Order: sequence, then structure tokens, then C-alpha cells
Amino acid sequence: MTTFPGEANAAATTNQALQPPHMEASSSNAPAVMARDLVRVFGQKMAVNHLNLTVQRGEFYGFLGPNGAGKSTTIKMMVGLLRPTSGSVWVGGVDVWKDPIRAHSLMGVLPEVLNIYERLSGREFLVFAGHMYGIPAGDIRRRAEDLLQVLTLIDDADKLIVDYSVGMRKKIALAAALIHRPEVIFLDEPFEGIDPISSRVIRDILRELTQRGTTVFFSSHIMEVVERLCTRVGIINQGTLVAEGTLQELRERASGEEKDATLEDLFLTIVGARSEHQNLSWLE
Ligand SMILES: Nc1ncnc2c1ncn2[C@@H]1O[C@H](COP(=O)(O)OP(=O)(O)OP(=O)(O)O)[C@@H](O)[C@H]1O
Ligand SMILES: [Mg+2]
Repeated sequence: MTTFPGEANAAATTNQALQPPHMEASSSNAPAVMARDLVRVFGQKMAVNHLNLTVQRGEFYGFLGPNGAGKSTTIKMMVGLLRPTSGSVWVGGVDVWKDPIRAHSLMGVLPEVLNIYERLSGREFLVFAGHMYGIPAGDIRRRAEDLLQVLTLIDDADKLIVDYSVGMRKKIALAAALIHRPEVIFLDEPFEGIDPISSRVIRDILRELTQRGTTVFFSSHIMEVVERLCTRVGIINQGTLVAEGTLQELRERASGEEKDATLEDLFLTIVGARSEHQNLSWLE
């Protein structure tokens, strides 16, 4: 792999924050994520429609779907941010809505809309996040410095988050989501607003985490990234999980596709967006 100047290769690091998670906290044989008959209704809108999904430990699961398909709604229900209308979700075998404190200790979350304390510096925010999870102060300090270093935020660590750029905010939120060494990390659009250098760093971190046994569940519109990283992909359309499998399995199931069809080809076929032509002739 070619590395360019200034491009950190997280896979080469052996920092403490990326050490394997504490597995004793969850029931060891349970899947990393399990959703059963998950439903969310907003008024007349069925945003998530009886969704069933299982992700095994160590999987790198990509969650795809067009705008408004229900990805963020699903993720929010999985992480305890939005109560399901009906259905259940377990993370590491723990029911997220019945035992939320235990479930939260097992997961790291990078939500679509970041909830960070902007009046803290990046370093202070990580220390705060570490204390929230009850991590010993010495470990917090070490892990925070590792994360700031790997995510190339070290030079801005003492700047207030309110003065961070979009990408820097996302990176500090990611660092905060990793500081307690979660078993499962949920990321909603982690690469949105991220430059190619940081994108590479985040990809390396996520890949390294899965190699160490952490499970990654993430949504993205960037097909090349999903294609490159994910062991399995789920596609949601209008609240329904319409396809799931490895890239190879999706190819086999999508009739009419070439055997070397890209994920983008498959995605467009599966969500039925292939033949939609807009007619904006009035623009001419
Ligand atoms: N708080 C809310 N109140 C009303 N409707 C909502 C709310 N949150 C989401 N919805 C609706 O639920 C549907 C699914 O939205 P969601 O945010 O889950 O989509 P998404 O797949 O994450 O899309 P995107 O790719 O644009 O982020 C949309 O029709 C949206 O308008
Ligand atoms: Mg979304």
C-alpha cells in the first residue's frame, strides 16, 4: 500500500484505544446486533417496516438505501436514541430498550447529527466521554492521546470544538465513540464531509477494529467504500430490507446483472432506480 506524506496508516498503529473490546460484558455467543420485527411509524409514514436483521461478531456491515429509506431511523432505534413503535433490538445479546445502560456500555455511536459539547476542547471532550463510561483516568488520558494522534487532531486538541471544521467534528465524535473500546460501533454516514486523507485513516481504524473482533455497522452512500470494506451489505428501501448478503451473493440474486457488476449497479437495480430519467428540459 502506498502511503503519502501526512497520511497516517492506522493499521500500522498498536495504540491502546484500538485494543480488543471487553467481551465479558455481553453474552459471548449472542450476535453483535439483532433486530426483530422493528417498526417505526411517524404519523402516517412507516419509516421502518418490520425489519429483521442479524449481524455476527467481527462483521463489517454496510447499511445502504436511498435518501429517506429509513437508515438513520433504524440506527437510532438500534442505539437507543429513538424508541421503536414495536419490535426489539439486542446488541451483544442485551436488549437495548430493556437494559439500556448495559447495552450502551457495549456500543459506540457516531450519529447522523452529532451531539457534542462544543464549549469543550477536543481533548476535554474525550476526557469527559471517558469519564461518562467510568474508565480509569490514566487509561482515558492514554487512549485520548492515541485517538487524537491517529485521527490527526493532536494539533487542534486544545481548540474549542465550536471552532472545529465539519470533518474535525466528525473525527472527534468518532474518537469519543471509541474511547470505551466498544464491542459494536454504529456509524451513520461516517465519511460524509471527510477529506480523502482522513477518510483513509477512518477506514484503516475501522478495518483494524474488525480484525480485532469489534463489529462495525455503518450506513453510507459511498459505494466504493462499502464495496471495499464490508463483509456484508443490507439494502433498505422505503423502510423494508430488500436485499442482504455479500457482494457475491447480491450479484447472484440480482437477476440480469453481469457477474462483475459493481455495488452501485446492484444498488440501482435493487432499489429500482435504473430507469428514472428526469426531464429538466426547461433548464436548457
Ligand atoms: N422525526 C421525524 N419525524 C417525522 N418523520 C421522520 C422523522 N425522522 C425521519 N422521518 C421520516 O422517516 C423516513 C426515513 O428517514 P431516515 O432519516 O431514516 O432516512 P435515511 O435512510 O437515513 O435517509 P438519508 O440517506 O437521507 O439520511 C423519511 O421519510 C423521513 O422523512
Ligand atoms: Mg440518514
